[in-house]
Amino acid sequence: MTYQVILPAAGQGKRMGAGKNKLLLTLNEIPVLIHTLRVFDEDEACDGIILAIHPQDEEEFKALLKKHKIKKVINLVPGGKERQHSIYNALKTVKSAGIILVHDAARPFIQKEHIHRLTEKAVETGAAIIGVPAKDTMKKVQDGIVAETVERSSLWAVQTPQAFRISLLKEAYDHAEKDQFLGTDDASLVERLNHSVAMVEGDYDNIKLTTPEDLFFAEAILKKRSF
Ligand code: CTP
Ligand code: MG
Repeated sequence: MTYQVILPAAGQGKRMGAGKNKLLLTLNEIPVLIHTLRVFDEDEACDGIILAIHPQDEEEFKALLKKHKIKKVINLVPGGKERQHSIYNALKTVKSAGIILVHDAARPFIQKEHIHRLTEKAVETGAAIIGVPAKDTMKKVQDGIVAETVERSSLWAVQTPQAFRISLLKEAYDHAEKDQFLGTDDASLVERLNHSVAMVEGDYDNIKLTTPEDLFFAEAILKKRSF
């Protein structure tokens, strides 16, 4: 069971407000980008990483890959306007068959065990995503007024990685491009083909670093893991 992984890293980190790509911020003196890359670089099941980057970050990212001896990046591709465009640029360069994962570079806490469970599920079903059951009560709100309380037991918060048969993900991306459909995750593009997507239970620690307070959560997760 091997896979290749696309890491979209070409965002601007606007909500983090650091004045640069948030992936360059450090945790334990190591950039977030490198934390995420290491997980895949050190996973024996990973046989290639495709990194989508913003042209303005190219030099700095290349220097970091060298400094931290990241070995498995087989391709650097230019990112696009939206995350979906960045992933499509990367997907077009994938030549092999088999399983492809898509994982946000801004989620450095993904663990190998979950990657493997997800990949196995994708081998079996063609499409699998990782997520966690919703903890809060969920309500639908319209114009500041609660319209309904949504049944929580069937709601999951979705994360990355998401794993697919390469041919299926390519078909889904081609369709989305043709219809000018922009989804908020990769699975939603596959769902449009009426292909079922399996859910694998992950870990609440697998947060995406989005806003400044997430850096405090990140420090806490690192501290917990060092015990
Ligand atoms: N991403 C990308 N190309 C884009 C936009 C985002 O490759 N055009 C990547 C980001 O680098 C990140 C992941 O997609 O690893 C998830 O995106 P998000 O958390 O939204 O990051 P940013 O877009 O950088 O942040 P913001 O939306 O706050 O600007
Ligand atoms: Mg974004």
